[in-house]
Amino acid sequence: MNLLVIGGGGREHAIIKKLRENPRVETIWCLPGNGGIAADAECVPIGAKDIDAICSFAGSHPIDFAVVAQDDPLALGCVDRLHALGIPCFGPEAKAARIEASKVFAKDLMKKYHIPTAKYRVFCKAEDALAFLETASFPIVLKADGLALGKGVLIVQDWEEACSAVSALMEEKRFGEAGSRIVIEEFLTGPEVSVLAFTDGKTICPMVSSMDHKRAGDGDTGLNTGGMGTVAPNPFYTADVASQCMEEIFLPTVQAMQEEGCPFKGCLYFGLMLTPQGPRVIEYNCRFGDPETQVVLPLLKTDLLTVMQAVEEERLHEISVEWHSDAAACVILASGGYPSAYEKGKEIFLPSSLPDNVTVFHAGDRLNDGKLFTSGGRVLGVTACAKTLREALDDAYAAVGQIHFDQMMFRHDIGQRALRALGD
Ligand code: AMP
Ligand code: GLY
Repeated sequence: MNLLVIGGGGREHAIIKKLRENPRVETIWCLPGNGGIAADAECVPIGAKDIDAICSFAGSHPIDFAVVAQDDPLALGCVDRLHALGIPCFGPEAKAARIEASKVFAKDLMKKYHIPTAKYRVFCKAEDALAFLETASFPIVLKADGLALGKGVLIVQDWEEACSAVSALMEEKRFGEAGSRIVIEEFLTGPEVSVLAFTDGKTICPMVSSMDHKRAGDGDTGLNTGGMGTVAPNPFYTADVASQCMEEIFLPTVQAMQEEGCPFKGCLYFGLMLTPQGPRVIEYNCRFGDPETQVVLPLLKTDLLTVMQAVEEERLHEISVEWHSDAAACVILASGGYPSAYEKGKEIFLPSSLPDNVTVFHAGDRLNDGKLFTSGGRVLGVTACAKTLREALDDAYAAVGQIHFDQMMFRHDIGQRALRALGD
């Protein structure tokens, strides 16, 4: 079988490596891919948002199955267009991708179907938002409606910060048109859990839970990033919490999307907060999370392509998806300065071999004359799997010590909160 994967980050590399485990897989084309993915797939320099170019490539190559892994092409209807060409795909069509692409859609859905989430109001005018904030209690959370690379969320502590946040989102349009409408919501507290789930629109099959580390610096300091590291499973996500989430959140979400006439097929990501009042949805994503995928997929025992095909053919209930009982840890190596300005073009030095339980997923790099150079903020994800989380972390950090590029930056405390929760 020949496959097409749309995207070019660590998530796509993790997906491709897993798909490669299936002996039926022949060629994998990745659009655009990156320097490291080039070792596992044929990378073609077509941007993931260039839907016309993607479709003309897909129409002229013998593709049996496509995986659209990134949010923008999903929101832009890449799956709808590939379906129109007769190509089976893993990923939601555009109207289902709204669950991530519009926070207002997601919040209104949760309200209508009584899915637990933070209380909220929607505003289209800065003056109305400010009038509401005058009597609000702080901290409070402001979110741009549209896609903003995970950076359109501002938590403000007082009235002054609220005014500058409204102005940044709605007047300066720091996140472009994504900020034309904003959601203002109640500030919640509690441990965060990421749950990715396979769903074919009717059946939902949650994957191993995970924990992201979103802030740039050690001790959860600094700016929010796309994610600086992950561990799986998440020790806060107990069997009781899992069954409560299934009943109150996962199944109701799948049913809600069906009733709204936009059944969700693909990977549905639940960003959850375990508040003292119970689990609440912080966000939905219409795709695999990154770097969550870099710890979750290595623990998948069942063949990924088989699961993806069952999702597309709406027969997920027929298969059983199995997981290894190990723990996994991923440490992201980023360019110094990320998520603010950073330099690119630094040569990457990797060891000639790594232990079997360690994998380096490539996110922001490019190949030039057989050498790898940095080309993005998050450059590499170093994942280790082991019997315990402590061993996985030790092995991941040991591998990090063997990797180098100028101004390489990473968090030194990935997994510490999870270890404390495990009493380790
Ligand atoms: P999001 O992009 O919606 O996941 O938000 C990014 C981060 O902001 C989340 O991972 C949370 O840490 C934080 N956050 C978002 N919404 C809330 C909320 N209602 N209360 C507290 N923290 C929040
Ligand atoms: N790691 C968070 C996300 O993928 O949105």
